Amino acid sequence: MDTLIIKDINSEALETAGEIIRRGGTVCFPTETVYGLGASAYDEDAIAKIYEAKGRPSDNPLIVHIPDVSEVYKVAREVPDSAKKLFEAFAPGPFTLILKKNPEIADRVTAGLDTVGVRIPSHPVARDFLKAAGVPVAAPSSNISGKPSPTKAEHVIADMDTRVDAIICGGASDVGVESTIIDMTEETPVILRPGGITPEDIKRVLGDVKIDRHVLESVNVKEQPKCPGMKYKHYAPDADVTVVSGKIDATETKIAELVAKDKQAGKQVGVLARCDKGYNADCFIASGKDNSQLARVLFDALRQFDKENIDTCYVQFTGDDGISLAVKNRLFKAAGNKVIYTEE
Ligand code: TXA
Ligand code: MG
Repeated sequence: MDTLIIKDINSEALETAGEIIRRGGTVCFPTETVYGLGASAYDEDAIAKIYEAKGRPSDNPLIVHIPDVSEVYKVAREVPDSAKKLFEAFAPGPFTLILKKNPEIADRVTAGLDTVGVRIPSHPVARDFLKAAGVPVAAPSSNISGKPSPTKAEHVIADMDTRVDAIICGGASDVGVESTIIDMTEETPVILRPGGITPEDIKRVLGDVKIDRHVLESVNVKEQPKCPGMKYKHYAPDADVTVVSGKIDATETKIAELVAKDKQAGKQVGVLARCDKGYNADCFIASGKDNSQLARVLFDALRQFDKENIDTCYVQFTGDDGISLAVKNRLFKAAGNKVIYTEE
């Protein structure tokens, strides 16, 4: 199909994109976390197009996006006080609340579940596009299933050109990893996926939050699993990813050692690390001074390594700041849990 590429973002262009949604089409749009691939959450046939464009298994439910908390009852039938408090504290922003579903939402959106994810993105283009659409917009990340989520328009064009009706090209996503997902249907809310809103942020508002076992398991496994990739490898680049975790100096030394060895073996080597200490890699990407900056560049870097035909790459992981749980979760998955700990 012909894909309309919208580079000049103005109210007329967003109105056109909104119209495409209302007529049952698909539109990729920027958000502050990652780009989304949207369709009307009321339209079963439109939702089927999302799964097809991504090659996504249809039993994996989608998140529904609205421009403002005043529209939450279009998507959810119940909003507990705890959810209202989180919306009040952080909306619009990089989090998704799982609530009881409004029956008007298409069953395909939630893969038959009685609950639905509700998200109010803060990106101004996302909000204007959602207002123009006038209906709740279901949207997964706009990558081909299994690839890193797109954080730049060029990633979306690479994955989705000819597969969707339109792509809105905004700038680079500011957060860079997908939203925090919090299940509000339990007595104590549970983080199902870590993101830009941290467990500490949520505790400050609600007093308590649990973290789903799977979030922690995927980041705590310290040995290479017997069958890497099969269970955990969701954000998979073609290059072989290894995380080198620990203090700055020790990780730098280790990475330099590993790069030298791989180069000797004739491999194309990539490094994503805080500062270039002369690693002599074929592709070096600076990850910035903290984990918020690493989050912003991570998915772009993984795509870059593939573009440059890197065989094996090392990512330095250090520190324990706010977004580190989210970064750790995505990074360890990309690496199929191949992690070298330089200290304990
Ligand atoms: O930041 C984000 O959340 C981005 C942007 C586009 O908003 N979207 C995103 O969507 O990451 P996606 O489809 O790539 O990831 C949604 C995740 C999936 O792991 C899905 O299983 C989970 O949310 N999910 C959706 N609805 C759910 C529900 N009712 N209960 C539990 N998990 C749900
Ligand atoms: Mg995704």
